Amino acid sequence: METQILQIDEQHINAEWIRQAGEIIKAGGLVAFPTETVYGLGGDALNPASAKKIYAAKGRPSDNPLIVHIYRIEDLHLLVKEIPEAARKLAAVFWPGPLTMIFEKSEAVPYETTGGLNTVAVRMPSNPVAAAFIREAGGYVAAPSANRSGRPSPTAAGYVAEDMRGRIEMILDGGDVEIGLESTIVDMTGEEPTILRPGFVTKEMLKDVLQSVSEDETMMSCSDGQAPKAPGMKYRHYAPKGDLTIVDGAERRVVDYINEQALRLREEGGKVGIIGTNATIADYRGDSCKSVGDRADEAAIARTLYRILREFDDEDVTVIFSESFTAAGLGQAIMNRLLKAAGHKVVHV
Ligand code: TXA
Ligand code: MG
Repeated sequence: METQILQIDEQHINAEWIRQAGEIIKAGGLVAFPTETVYGLGGDALNPASAKKIYAAKGRPSDNPLIVHIYRIEDLHLLVKEIPEAARKLAAVFWPGPLTMIFEKSEAVPYETTGGLNTVAVRMPSNPVAAAFIREAGGYVAAPSANRSGRPSPTAAGYVAEDMRGRIEMILDGGDVEIGLESTIVDMTGEEPTILRPGFVTKEMLKDVLQSVSEDETMMSCSDGQAPKAPGMKYRHYAPKGDLTIVDGAERRVVDYINEQALRLREEGGKVGIIGTNATIADYRGDSCKSVGDRADEAAIARTLYRILREFDDEDVTVIFSESFTAAGLGQAIMNRLLKAAGHKVVHV
């Protein structure tokens, strides 16, 4: 299959191209599109055959449910049995935006889309290209992140092309994404709203709107015994090819430890990648040293992390060391993804 790649300018959206993209979805095909978090791999959420195609293109197990993307709040009704009051409040504040909510699903949503679950994840992205595309596609676009299973989520269209060229009909290239980490997922079906995946919308931001929010216990831990509530979180999703270790401790000790390890591993023939910050990056002695930006600028770290992991894959780095980051606010989402990429391997120095 030839994959058409179209560059769409957010400020001047080419209506004809968006119409063509919508037609592909309505005909049961797949289109990758930009959102503010990461690129999505879209198919018709109400068509069981489209969900199957998405799983095949991603190489993803079909018990891993998809997020349904809408472009206006009133379309939520068709997808869900009921809209809890807390969900109305969250939608009013955070939609459109990087928040996904889980509801009891209606009959309209096929089990192929929800991976066999009776619940459905719904999100209304703020990216204007995404909104225009979802409207032209009929209003309900199921989309996981547009990476092959096991690779970091794509933060630019070039990364989508790397993974999906020849597997899908079209890629809408809307440039670099704004946020760089996937949406916050909150389960609205229990007694208390529960965060299943941390993201740009933090626990603190959710608590400003609702009295109580809890967190899935498995979210930041490495306990193998408990099954995470978001089925996708059980897979080692964000895994780079190189063996990643997070090193936590005082700045100088971290730099010294990583350099000692790098020296030893390079003598043994390894190729060492190092993830540092602007303050430390010049001090590292790896084969490839990359800064995520200023430690204080968490938004920049979120935007850069997946790109760096992909670059290390391309460079065939065999071992990766990363500095650790604080796990508060947006840092919680950053550390959640980094811990997953590292298979929870953390060294304290
Ligand atoms: O920012 C995002 O959410 C991006 C963009 C494209 O919107 N999408 C994304 O999709 O990250 P994906 O498929 O890579 O991750 C969706 C996560 C998975 O961990 C999945 O298990 C969980 O959402 N999920 C989906 N439906 C669910 C449900 N009904 N119950 C629990 N978890 C669900
Ligand atoms: Mg994903």
